[in-house]
Amino acid sequence: MSESKNSAISRRSFVKQGSAGLAATAAAANLGLLTTGAYAQAGNQELRLGVVGAGGRGSGAVGNCLQAAEELGIPMKLTAVADLAPERVADSTKALGEAWGPKNRFDVKPDRQFSGMDAYKKLCSNPDVDVVVQATPPGLRYLTLREAVNNGKHSFVEKPVCVDADTYHHVLASGNIAKNKGLAIVSGTQYRRENSYKDAIDQLQNGIIGDIMASYQYYCGGTLWHRGKGTPPWTPMEYQMRNWLYFTWLSGDLIAEQSIHNIDAINWSMDANPVKAYASGGRISRTDAAFGNVYDHFDVHFEYANGIRSSFMGRQYQGATNKVENRWVGTKGELYLKPNPGRTAWIAKTHDGQIVKRNTGRRGNNQPYVEEHKELLKGIVDGKPVMEIQEVADSSMTCILGREAAYSGKELTFDYLVKSNLKLRPGGIDANGPQPGPVNLPFPDVRRPGSYKI
Ligand SMILES: NC(=O)c1ccc[n+]([C@@H]2O[C@H](COP(=O)([O-])OP(=O)(O)OC[C@H]3O[C@@H](n4cnc5c(N)ncnc54)[C@H](O)[C@@H]3O)[C@@H](O)[C@H]2O)c1
Repeated sequence: MSESKNSAISRRSFVKQGSAGLAATAAAANLGLLTTGAYAQAGNQELRLGVVGAGGRGSGAVGNCLQAAEELGIPMKLTAVADLAPERVADSTKALGEAWGPKNRFDVKPDRQFSGMDAYKKLCSNPDVDVVVQATPPGLRYLTLREAVNNGKHSFVEKPVCVDADTYHHVLASGNIAKNKGLAIVSGTQYRRENSYKDAIDQLQNGIIGDIMASYQYYCGGTLWHRGKGTPPWTPMEYQMRNWLYFTWLSGDLIAEQSIHNIDAINWSMDANPVKAYASGGRISRTDAAFGNVYDHFDVHFEYANGIRSSFMGRQYQGATNKVENRWVGTKGELYLKPNPGRTAWIAKTHDGQIVKRNTGRRGNNQPYVEEHKELLKGIVDGKPVMEIQEVADSSMTCILGREAAYSGKELTFDYLVKSNLKLRPGGIDANGPQPGPVNLPFPDVRRPGSYKI
């Protein structure tokens, strides 16, 4: 990538930051909310944290956020926990209380513990919450983000943030409202905050392997959990939400839910979205109806401007060889990267095998899961709210493009998909959120390439 392109990138980021800061100050004057500007005016006011979707990552992100506050010396407490499942609320509250209570960073009273389908609404409208960690199934991110933004809360949104064209436009619209209100939205694409990973992308953009000609991305891992049918059996809606990984309308399928990190890296390195995708995929090892309608493997060729191709392979098979890595091939050599949060390592070589540069990902590295919250909190207290919904929505959409190309068997363009009316969720959710049932919610069909059209 040329120098002029790099300076354009930094200038764009600077302008984004600057205008967000102005928006924050303007909005603070008009809102009775703890926006970034208001925070700065009020002095060291305590920030209050809530989490919607208190599963593995939601609980983990709360710990990362409180750790970030601790390291930055920002007064902040966890005040509210919400989840569809009451036992998840109880387990997460207990564990987080044990970890953060002794550090005076925990204040989750019983009336700020919410469960059920409307738990997200209760938490987002609670006056004792300023920042909302959102880690429900991705297909519901548009709902939690909309609710958080409408209630004037800052957001940390786990990836992916959308599962179809409709939710893509929804989260971007919420992003605009947030910008106008001076609210921050930081996303869980944590590699963008890891020193060694950033170093690799900088080097690629500065031409360490010449011009990028192609790349190869793999996210091939094992199978994941299944949470059964419930006792007494869950309603069809609750069953799908509890086993959300296996329903495309909730997870986006494995290519969005899991592989987004490696697909995001391609867009990041190219500073662009792909133009189109051609793909195949299916389900061969996870065919039982209990596994909903997702595929278990994808093979996608993304094409960027000037015909540069990126080949992506993703799968979830038990007992096969796992491979999670990224490889860029340029006119002068190759850069091979092994992603691993906090320990991402990479090596750049010439085509005849000479090492040009390497980063072991150990010395001078940082903890990206904590770093993303540091940037969120720093932005809030400095009156410069970070706004990054566009990048993560685009990367989520890139995954959706690969998925839909595989589901349909057709070559699809990014623009076509963005303009399409692809909307996966069942009816009746939009106005008041998902309803507990009994709801007539059949399992969606597994897509058949050739007969499925979008
Ligand atoms: N950045 C990363 O490295 C990373 C790692 C893991 C997961 N994630 C992302 O985090 C999110 C959560 O993943 P997880 O592994 O924690 O899954 P999880 O199943 O452990 O947690 C999801 C939680 O959401 C709850 N939930 C479901 N429907 C709900 C509703 N309608 N209202 C409120 N709560 C509801 C579930 O009960 C569950 O507790 C996903 O988007 C996932 O892709 C990111």
